[in-house]
Amino acid sequence: MIFINFKTYETGTGEKALEMVKTLESVSRETGVKLIPIVQALDLRMIAGQTSLEVWVQGIDNITYGAHTGHTLPEGVLLAGAKGAVLNHSENKALNVEDLAGRNQRARDVGLKTLIFADSTDELRQAISLKPDFVSYEPPELIGSSDKSVATEKPDIVKKAVNIAKNADIPLIVGAGIQTKEDITTSLNLGASGFAIASGIMNAENPRTVIENLAKGFK
Ligand code: G3P
Repeated sequence: MIFINFKTYETGTGEKALEMVKTLESVSRETGVKLIPIVQALDLRMIAGQTSLEVWVQGIDNITYGAHTGHTLPEGVLLAGAKGAVLNHSENKALNVEDLAGRNQRARDVGLKTLIFADSTDELRQAISLKPDFVSYEPPELIGSSDKSVATEKPDIVKKAVNIAKNADIPLIVGAGIQTKEDITTSLNLGASGFAIASGIMNAENPRTVIENLAKGFK
């Protein structure tokens, strides 16, 4: 399973985001690897209506219907077609633990799955205590790297994170700098259940070739 985080890349915005999702859909069909686009809230309805892939959104807020200008309403995200939301990404942290717990709870209340990001094993334990569907370990300093990855630089912490997540029976997703099928194979061998990838795909000259190559790491 690979979560593809569209962030605010140009290739992940508007019509280009739809084009990327169509590529993911086609590669997923051809390789059998589950690919989950994590899209911007603005593009969610347009994309979810035109793909058979499960689509997630990049965040929700801890709010309900009412007066909350500029926030992302969990109910609205569900109505727009999302199946899940990612929370606490290092580029968009929750305000504090209570806020994170509130966002996670709101997602659950409306029927959205959640993946909570952590940038350390301490944060991972905190995330796990909230019982999300997935947790992710991503060292922030390796996010966006084109020559180093969590798999090449942090195998010991990945192993530790795998064990922490396994004890709670929550699948561990790893991310940061993942670009190659070797990154995939190494992480799977360490016990990771899936991946979160952004720049390696969103900035690629030929995203299809990159994803097809990454998919080979699952064989
Ligand atoms: O959410 C995944 C992301 O933060 C990883 O980014 O660019 O290192 O693949 P990147």
